[in-house]
Amino acid sequence: MNLGLGMAAIGRPHYINVRTNTVAKSNVNELKTDGFKVLDEAYKLGVRYFDTAPGYGLAENLLIDWLADKKGLNIEVATKWGYTYVANFDPNAKVHELKEHSISKLKEQWQVSNKLLPFLTTYQIHSATLETGVLENEAVLNELFFLKNEFNLKIGISTTGENQVEVIKKALDVSVENKPLFDTFQSTFNMLEQSLLSVRGILKKENKRLIVKEALANGRIFKNSNYPEYQEFYRTVENLSKKYEVGVDAITLNFCANIFPEAIILSGASTINQLQENLKINSFNLSEDELNLLKKFKVEPAKYWNERKKLEWN
Ligand SMILES: NC(=O)c1ccc[n+]([C@@H]2O[C@H](COP(=O)([O-])OP(=O)(O)OC[C@H]3O[C@@H](n4cnc5c(N)ncnc54)[C@H](OP(=O)(O)O)[C@@H]3O)[C@@H](O)[C@H]2O)c1
Repeated sequence: MNLGLGMAAIGRPHYINVRTNTVAKSNVNELKTDGFKVLDEAYKLGVRYFDTAPGYGLAENLLIDWLADKKGLNIEVATKWGYTYVANFDPNAKVHELKEHSISKLKEQWQVSNKLLPFLTTYQIHSATLETGVLENEAVLNELFFLKNEFNLKIGISTTGENQVEVIKKALDVSVENKPLFDTFQSTFNMLEQSLLSVRGILKKENKRLIVKEALANGRIFKNSNYPEYQEFYRTVENLSKKYEVGVDAITLNFCANIFPEAIILSGASTINQLQENLKINSFNLSEDELNLLKKFKVEPAKYWNERKKLEWN
């Protein structure tokens, strides 16, 4: 199973999750040292796909530095453009990132992201939405087409929100010079949010690459008394976790990898211990019956995304 490492929780003090306590590390040197350790461990454990973004604090620069002595190694990197980190590592910050899908932002962020070459294979619009009009912005689409050909990149979008399927379908229709522009889709899928199943066939048929993010529903798959309606779900996942002697995180990641066998599944681990636990995904295989049982726990996308909006950054 193909587990990649997502760097959203590495490289800045705060990130969206279900925790109520703050473990904010605002010391940049500490963030760097810890981030390097997670990257080293990931490589050691066989992870070869790394996902980052300029919006993730110092994560993208950390990856650029980490790659400096990795020449010739088989490492694949994906980054994004469209969000700027603005919290300045302030532990009390309220605004963390700003979205801007303009041609000038694309050109500005590419000036840093291109340092990820030659490892960079995938360049994505960070959280493409209908509202920003980015999928109709000709200057942006033409520039992405240029970068795709010039640097042999896969061009992608990431999607977040209730209408992610609608955004994916719209992106599938985008062409430049009569060629489809987008090759990859980084989208949310987990036992609670299964709307991606409706585009599984078309993505496969059109040979698009799927990268699954938020496979742990930002931590909501762990037993939590704030979600009384998920108690049966929690019991079921915990039973499987006992059966296979792994954490519920590995059960959930294994579920995603079984439903989308060709996809890269992102681990959002923020520590080495979480990464090691996540990687137990490869130590067992859920049966067909267990997959069908788990599929029952999906909720309406509107409910799922409403809950996510209420999660705090800490
Ligand atoms: N393109 C986009 O718009 C977008 C949006 C979201 C994510 N992503 C990408 O997808 C990646 C993964 O998504 P995500 O991190 O948002 O969500 P996620 O994978 O659903 O959740 C990750 C969180 O789960 C917790 N966790 C993981 N393993 C654990 C374990 N063994 N025990 C206890 N807790 C554990 C950690 O929480 P704590 O930190 O609280 O311990 C971690 O931050 C990101 O890193 C990023 O690369 C992209």
